[in-house]
Amino acid sequence: MSTSLIQKYNVPGPRYTSYPTVPYWNESNFTTEKWMATFQQSFEESNSKNGISLYIHLPFCESMCTFCGCNKRITKNHSVEETYIKALLKEWSLYCNLFSERPNIKEIHLGGGTPTFFSKNNLEQLINGIFSYANKAENYEFSFEGHPNNTTYEQLQKLYDLGFRRVSFGVQDYAEKVQKAIHRIQPFHNVAKVTFWAKEIGYTSIGHDIIFGLPFQTIEDVMDTMEKTNSLKPDRLAFYSYAHTPWIKGNGQRGFNDEDLPKDTEKRQLYEIGKQLLSKNGYHEIGMDHFALASDSLYKASQNQELHRNFMGYNASKTQLMIGLGVSSISDSWYSFAQNTKSLEDYYQILEWDKLPVIKGHILDEEDLIIRKHILNLTCQFETSWNNQELYFDEIPAVLSELKEMENDNLIIIEENKIRITEAGKPFVRNICMAFDLHLKRKSPENNLFSMTV
Ligand SMILES: C[S@@+](CC[C@H](N)C(=O)[O-])C[C@H]1O[C@@H](n2cnc3c(N)ncnc32)[C@H](O)[C@@H]1O
Ligand code: SF4
Repeated sequence: MSTSLIQKYNVPGPRYTSYPTVPYWNESNFTTEKWMATFQQSFEESNSKNGISLYIHLPFCESMCTFCGCNKRITKNHSVEETYIKALLKEWSLYCNLFSERPNIKEIHLGGGTPTFFSKNNLEQLINGIFSYANKAENYEFSFEGHPNNTTYEQLQKLYDLGFRRVSFGVQDYAEKVQKAIHRIQPFHNVAKVTFWAKEIGYTSIGHDIIFGLPFQTIEDVMDTMEKTNSLKPDRLAFYSYAHTPWIKGNGQRGFNDEDLPKDTEKRQLYEIGKQLLSKNGYHEIGMDHFALASDSLYKASQNQELHRNFMGYNASKTQLMIGLGVSSISDSWYSFAQNTKSLEDYYQILEWDKLPVIKGHILDEEDLIIRKHILNLTCQFETSWNNQELYFDEIPAVLSELKEMENDNLIIIEENKIRITEAGKPFVRNICMAFDLHLKRKSPENNLFSMTV
């Protein structure tokens, strides 16, 4: 890939896990009552058809990784588990009281933080508690994130028995100097062990998270990480660009300075080499940052144009309503977003008052709903289209004229009422989405809010 293209397009930009992106939510137009009305509408429309999704945030980690952008609370004190699960179940019961019938749960994702911080018995109590108010939908899909350093055979077995078939493990990079710098010492045999256990127990989709652009990371490190990864053959791979956002997450134990990070061309080379090796090893590019073997359901969904993307990442099935439980979780009713408080103390306090711990959100207007669909099409199918009746909006000509330059650079092909992203354009999908992002165009951010797009 040409250096000049990288220099041209490497600008701060959103990752588009939602549209509008969180900094552009119109909080003055949002109330918890409006959120309740829209999720009830969404529930009525979808519960008996596809069912609903649950994202459950489990924020605790035993040790702080200094690259991490997730919402987490570091502690070695495991007595926090029971209080937190009690609060999660209280929150769930408040939602269930607002539903008109028993919810059918199609998807559960346990994210973090570190879900495997919790003991197998507490995880069981959580899942059983959720289903004391709910049914499992047909072809349900339950997944969780595991830390290779603390996932036990018993946890994997218990979650399997509870219906979980997908797990993803955080790997990042195997080089010792990188691991030291990010304060995350995690030998290969730990990852190998948990991957083998998951296969042996019967998990049908095992994922690894790898990051490029970490401090001190070299091409040789990415090659070695890819080779080791290939020897374990996970079904899916997330290959993330390191999002360096120190202005949001400062922390003390960082073993690196800004100068130790590979930048621009150097960083892009790490991505290029990683991507080449992934392709050589049989992994297909699914969407932004995600790769899968042909046997994985995510690949099949991408082939059938059924891929969906939300705050949980890419999914093979689309549900209209996703309820996010736990501190900092985001819920999505398609018509609106709502986010819970990020403070654990406030989360407990608000639930004590029998209130939903939602502190902000956004109600989508008609224009938002149209743009949202375009951004989903671009990030999931690498193309989008419109006609006079459907998905047209007044600014389309302006968007197209802005995209002209990307067309000249062979990143996209503009056809009548349609744009397609080329192979060369795939790394720039965030930039292409930005051309559709009317909120961003109308008001560029005053501060650094986003990581770099490339
Ligand atoms: C919640 S963690 C995964 C589970 C577990 N806590 C662990 O670390 O193994 C989610 C994933 O987000 C990714 N991630 C976190 N911070 C990131 C950042 N600043 N840039 C890119 N990816 C990041 C990492 O790949 C990480 O594995
Ligand atoms: S990467 Fe995972 S284990 Fe490390 S701090 Fe972030 S959430 Fe916790």
